[in-house]
Amino acid sequence: MREYFDKLRVGFAITGSFCTFEKALSIMENLKERGCEIIPVMSYNAFTTDTRFGKAEEFRARIEEITKKKIICTIADAEPIGPADMTDIMLVAPCTGNTMAKLAMSIIDTPVCLAVKSHLRAGKPVVIAPATNDALAGAYKNIASLMNYKNYFFVPFGQDDYVKKQSSMVADFSLIPAAIEMALDGRQLQPVLI
Ligand SMILES: Cc1cc2nc3c(=O)[nH]c(=O)nc-3n(C[C@H](O)[C@H](O)[C@H](O)COP(=O)(O)O)c2cc1C
Repeated sequence: MREYFDKLRVGFAITGSFCTFEKALSIMENLKERGCEIIPVMSYNAFTTDTRFGKAEEFRARIEEITKKKIICTIADAEPIGPADMTDIMLVAPCTGNTMAKLAMSIIDTPVCLAVKSHLRAGKPVVIAPATNDALAGAYKNIASLMNYKNYFFVPFGQDDYVKKQSSMVADFSLIPAAIEMALDGRQLQPVLI
């Protein structure tokens, strides 16, 4: 078996899908245990917003404890990611409908968007773990756009509650390591829709 994870430098970008933060942190721990170096990045909203799912300060502390690194939380701090060759792969987990829309349109006004753009400079893979209530509505076209862009890959995702939230789709976070392995080989983990 190829050793994909040992010393792999994973940019781990978190955006404001607060209900999936616990799943994201659990995968962050898992990747760290596998030997990855995690470079944490947070969007302004993820970094600063307290919600019923937890306090921003507590999430920030946990992320810095897991990664042993300071979170990249400004556009200025995200800018060197590409030029300084800081990452082998960039994971956006969770990725909001908002951030997917921006990435699809090259609107780069958050630390996460610039982290992705800066990383993509060298043509390295980006892995998106979507989590949004409008995946099958307003965000659908943006997901389709990103799927057709070079160097973008998706963590397999599906409808999480088709009775109560008919347009909602969420990635299966447990598939993140497998999606990373495939993306490093330039391939999409299949089936992408689950
Ligand atoms: C409690 C709470 C939960 C949210 N969950 C989601 C979500 O799961 N998916 C999503 O796309 N947006 C969600 N949002 C909205 C985003 O946080 C909002 O669109 C924000 O502008 C995203 O910014 P970012 O993409 O830069 O992090 C949620 C907001 C709140 C307050």
